[in-house]
Amino acid sequence: MPLRIQLIFAMVAALLISLVLVGTLAWWNAARSVNTEMHAAMDAAERVVRTTIAQLPATSDDPLYIERLIPAFDGNRHIKAVLVKSDGLAAATSAMASTGAPPSWFTRAVGVAPEIRDIPLPPEAAPYRAVTLQTDPRNEIGEVWARVRDDSLIMAVFCLATVLLGRWIVGHALSPLEKLSRGIAIIGTGNYAARVQSHGPPEISELADSFNTMAEHLGTLESKNHRLTGQLLTIQEEERTDLARDLHDEVGPFLFAVNVDAAAIARDAEAKGLSEIATQVRSIQESVTHMQRHVRAILRRLRPAGLQDVGLEQAVSNLAAFWQQRHAETAIRVHVAPGAADINEAHSAAIYRVIQESLSNAVRHGQSRGIDITVADIGDDIVVEVADDGVGLARPVTDAVSNTFGIVGMKERVAGLGGRLTVANRTDGCSGAIVTARLPRQTAEDISEPAAL
Ligand SMILES: Nc1ncnc2c1ncn2[C@@H]1O[C@H](COP(=O)(O)OP(=O)(O)OP(=O)(O)O)[C@@H](O)[C@H]1O
Ligand SMILES: [Mg+2]
Repeated sequence: MPLRIQLIFAMVAALLISLVLVGTLAWWNAARSVNTEMHAAMDAAERVVRTTIAQLPATSDDPLYIERLIPAFDGNRHIKAVLVKSDGLAAATSAMASTGAPPSWFTRAVGVAPEIRDIPLPPEAAPYRAVTLQTDPRNEIGEVWARVRDDSLIMAVFCLATVLLGRWIVGHALSPLEKLSRGIAIIGTGNYAARVQSHGPPEISELADSFNTMAEHLGTLESKNHRLTGQLLTIQEEERTDLARDLHDEVGPFLFAVNVDAAAIARDAEAKGLSEIATQVRSIQESVTHMQRHVRAILRRLRPAGLQDVGLEQAVSNLAAFWQQRHAETAIRVHVAPGAADINEAHSAAIYRVIQESLSNAVRHGQSRGIDITVADIGDDIVVEVADDGVGLARPVTDAVSNTFGIVGMKERVAGLGGRLTVANRTDGCSGAIVTARLPRQTAEDISEPAAL
């Protein structure tokens, strides 16, 4: 569950618990205060009745004296007084003051029962036997109810305001964290240009600063890494070129010379009837021819056949033709965009090597029947794809250390130019694997200002 929701839930739960506690306390106080009030009212009323009874002997000339006691209770909010005759019937009952009645559930919750007190009258009060006093807690409960209702209303407004304010504060405080989390996700994809604005509370702005420093370091390391890989590949290309030149210039002429000399010796030996020598020399000639073929094959591998001379498209077509000759059953199709003619030397070499390795993999591991090589010019990127219809990859290709060098080498070569290479199974419904290399025409040094979140 998101932290924002968790915090709001915690706040609502705390408010609800407080409300329950306040409600319980209010209920307990209400029951106590109504009880106390009723007892006090009953005691006061009893005192009035007893005072009246005490004065009865002195008021014997006033037969209505006792009857005037009951109207004295008219308008009382808590006590009802009843004058009871000797036959048990009520001779007079006081009229209580009436206020708004509380809801019945609240009356039940307060739970204060009416109390009845019978105060007997002396014989002088005949024909009346007693005065009955009865408490009626409804008025008092009504008062308490009005207080509780107003307090609850204020509490509800307070809780609502607290929740809304809390929601706003939590949202405000968490928004830098959410930006930070988006930044980390972007860094996780290998894009170190992401930056987070440093604002909010000091703890969070420090986090944002540390994040930005880390992203900057990673970016610097990555561009250093790219530069190093680029240098490595350049050195590798130079080494290959030197080796190819030496083989071509130093070994090639000597092999040629040996062949020419051997042919001359063979001719001489045959002319002089030394057929045995002639046969041996012919065998030397065959070995030399074999060595020449071998050297030419090595040269082809070391230097992409005429990449600089014939251009990328022709060089790729030559490569396709090379494999086609050896695997006639596999159809190799080449589609190179016209813009490929403008691709610079470093990019052309990388593209050529990617296609060379991917073709070799598709034939060696995929047992493919059809291979499509595409070099497309998409906006600022050059996209190279080699898709085969073979068996596909047995397991996904990861960045984990492996003891094979083909895919690792392709990835490094492309990364060295600021690009990205993926090897995966095809997702277009066909079987087989697809190698995709995306090379920016711009180099890593030209990457614009980092994007701020
Ligand atoms: N087109 C493909 N079809 C099926 N499997 C493939 C394909 N390309 C690569 N693979 C699998 O990926 C593995 C790694 O390929 P990678 O080119 O790195 O090494 P390799 O070809 O085995 O050896 P090398 O170092 O000589 O290139 C291969 O061994 C193969 O199992
Ligand atoms: Mg390979």
